[in-house]
Amino acid sequence: MKNILVIGSVGQIGSELTLELRKRYGNNNVVAGFRSTKPVGELLESGPAEIVDATNIDQITEVVKKYKIDTIYNLAAILSAVGESKPLAAWNVGIGGLMNCLEVSHEYNCALFTPSSIGAFGGGTPLDNTPQDTIQRPQTMYGVTKVTGELLSDYYHKRFGVDTRSVRYPGIISNVTLPGGGTTDYAVEIYYEAVKTGKFVCPLGKGTFLDMMYMPDAIDAAIDLMEADPTKLVHRNSFNVTAMSFDPEIISAEIKKHLPSFEMTYNVEPMKQAIANSWPNNMDDSCARKEWGWNPKWNLEKMTVDMLKVISDKHAKGLI
Ligand code: SER
Repeated sequence: MKNILVIGSVGQIGSELTLELRKRYGNNNVVAGFRSTKPVGELLESGPAEIVDATNIDQITEVVKKYKIDTIYNLAAILSAVGESKPLAAWNVGIGGLMNCLEVSHEYNCALFTPSSIGAFGGGTPLDNTPQDTIQRPQTMYGVTKVTGELLSDYYHKRFGVDTRSVRYPGIISNVTLPGGGTTDYAVEIYYEAVKTGKFVCPLGKGTFLDMMYMPDAIDAAIDLMEADPTKLVHRNSFNVTAMSFDPEIISAEIKKHLPSFEMTYNVEPMKQAIANSWPNNMDDSCARKEWGWNPKWNLEKMTVDMLKVISDKHAKGLI
C-alpha cells in the first residue's frame, strides 16, 4: 500500500487528484498538504490534511516521517501570467519547492511527481507536432522554472536514483476548482461564462491553437505514469501529453452547439497572447503512449457536454 503526500492539494489539479488517489489507495493513505487555504468539504473530511508549504523543507520532512510517505505529488506552482508579475515568487515556489521535494525524496526514498507544462517550450521550439526532445528556451519565468525543474528532476534520478517522473501538462480544463493566473485559463472560464451570462470576452485571439486536456485524463496521466514499469521508461522528466488542440473559435463553436445564443467577443491581452504564441499548437505525445500507455479518453465534444452539464447543475443550485 502506498502512503502519498499531495503538496498543493487545494489547487486546480490537487483538489481532484487527492480525492482520486484516496479512492484508489485508501482515504487514510493520502495526505492533503496545504499552505494557507485549508481544504474544505470532502477533501478535508475524507482523509488526513497537514500544513505543508513547498518552500519549507522542515514541514515536508515532518509529514513524510509522520505518515511514512513513499510517494509525493508536488503540485505547488505559480502559473504563467502571474509568474510574469512575480518572478521571484514563481522561482521560489517552483524551484525552491522542487529542490526541497527532491532532497526529502532522496533522504526518505520517496517517488516524486512534479508536473512540467507546455510552458517549458518556446524560443525556437517547433510549434506543430512538437517533439518530445527539442529546443526549450522559454521566455516566461514559469517556463524557466519548468525547464529547470525537468533538468533537476532528471539530475536527481541519474545522480542519486530518486524515482522522479513528470508530464508536460497542456491547459487543464476542469469544473471543481478554478485555475488562477494561467494563459490557458480562458478555456475553463469560457464554460462558466457561457452558463452564467451567455457571453465571453476572450483574452486570446482567433487562431491561437493550444494543447488542452480534461481533468479526468490529467489525473490518469499522473497516476498511470507513477504506476508505470520503470524499466519501460526511456524518458522521465518530462513527457509530452495532450488530448486535444483548439483555438477560441473552435471551442466557442462547440459550446454554441449546446447554447445557440452564446456569444464570444475578443479583447486580446498582449502578455497572454505573447505567451500563447510561444507555446506549442499541438504536441507529439507518442513517447508517453509508447513508454507507459498514455491514451486520453476525452475529446472536445465529449468534454463540452460534461462541462456544460456540471456547471449548469452548479448554477441551478446557486453554487456559482
Ligand atoms: N495552464 C498553464 C498556464 O497557462 C500552463 O501549464 O500557465
